[in-house]
Amino acid sequence: MATPSTAPPTTAGATLTYDGKSVSLPLVAGSEAEAAIDIQSLRAKTGLITLDPGYGNTGACRSAITFIDGEKGILRYRGYPIEELAEKSTFLEVAWLLLYGELPKRADLTEFASEVTRHTLLHENFKRFFEALPKDAHPMPVCAAAVGALATFYQEPETDQNLHDTVVRLMAKMPTIAAYSYKHSIGQPFMYPNNKLDYASNFLHMMFAIPAEDYVVDPVLARAVDLLLILHADHEQNCSTSTVRMVGSSRANLFASISAGISALWGPLHGGANQQVIEMLERIEAEGGDAQAFVDRAKDKKDNSRLMGFGHRVYKNYDPRATILKKSCMEVLGKLGVRNRLLEIAMKLEEIALKDDYFISHKLYPNVDFYSGIIYQALGIPVNGFTVMFTIGRLPGWIAQWLEARSDPDFRISRPRQIYTGATKRAYVPIASRG
Ligand code: CMC
Repeated sequence: MATPSTAPPTTAGATLTYDGKSVSLPLVAGSEAEAAIDIQSLRAKTGLITLDPGYGNTGACRSAITFIDGEKGILRYRGYPIEELAEKSTFLEVAWLLLYGELPKRADLTEFASEVTRHTLLHENFKRFFEALPKDAHPMPVCAAAVGALATFYQEPETDQNLHDTVVRLMAKMPTIAAYSYKHSIGQPFMYPNNKLDYASNFLHMMFAIPAEDYVVDPVLARAVDLLLILHADHEQNCSTSTVRMVGSSRANLFASISAGISALWGPLHGGANQQVIEMLERIEAEGGDAQAFVDRAKDKKDNSRLMGFGHRVYKNYDPRATILKKSCMEVLGKLGVRNRLLEIAMKLEEIALKDDYFISHKLYPNVDFYSGIIYQALGIPVNGFTVMFTIGRLPGWIAQWLEARSDPDFRISRPRQIYTGATKRAYVPIASRG
């Protein structure tokens, strides 16, 4: 099922000199001429390890799924530029591309879409799971728990066929779980999926339809959802994806690994930033709409405000997803005939920040989360559901990365080392002698 990682040949070595000794280490090149020093033999040869908090310089795997050039603002899934996929593809097609490595033939896509459509229902007992949770439960831990709990319904051994079924079930049930967590929070009945609808439309139907009335999905909204899902579908070794790979490296099952990824995504520095952006924009509006004053606070090291939706570990130029989203945001609001004060504040913030020395010198540009929240809001998604949208989008990327790790010849349990800085050996002091 998974496309194995390409393992480009090892090239000429690098020499590390330390304490008057030296060791030669191989260099590794990627298909886009990215280069790395292969340190797998470092500790055995020298007794040294590398220290890289936050892993900014550490390649944890070889991967053939997503390529990012952060300096040039490039993002490609399996070689295809995100701009082209955003314009011409659909989320399920992109999911297939990420999972299997190639764009699907028509018959493959039809079969995949049909399989996903036929697995959207949750077990009836599962409704009680939602009912057990408080009404104001944040949907991210609800989704993480629900995906973890799916493992209890599907406990078959991990054969290729069962793994395929798990992939389909996850893709199919994630929107249902997301919509059910929302319906539970507002006290409305769960809406069963409608097999006549496409992936994005079905999600909107489960979120916003009620049994007492007809609900017709607005194609503008459905296309906006599909686009948002495409843009979030993968982003190489980010925090949640690395979590999914790490949990999977213990040979934990796919449900458990994805559940951990959802928890990692929830954090405000990662997927949770989209919620923080809207809250920031609302705060600025409530305080009189002074964008300049907020930019000044974000620069002030004594104030711990950050300009949420700005900055990225990898992109040191514009995040290409933000460019697409800004355009889409204006189109969607235009088509819906909505004038949005928060969009105006966001554009003002961007304009100020892009001319500001601090943001220029720190290479801070809008990221994917800066404009996505405004579209989510226009779609009627509640603010605490924004990161759930990111989750639905990122799912195929997580799965593809997990599968790739499983079929990687270098597959080992992930187990970083540390530099210990605690107390050295000392003798136990009995409690009576501790003063
Ligand atoms: N506003 C103000 N200053 C910032 C910001 C910001 N949004 N982001 C980074 N900086 C400053 C930071 O204070 C530091 O300054 P100095 O070197 O003078 O101390 C410098 O830029 C480097 O920051 P960092 O935190 O070391 O950078 P990082 O690569 O570890 O963090 C980041 C990346 C995305 C966590 C960070 O830029 C940030 O917190 N951004 C706001 C949250 C956000 O939008 N997150 C979504 C990321 S994209 C989607 C996703 O991955 O989920």
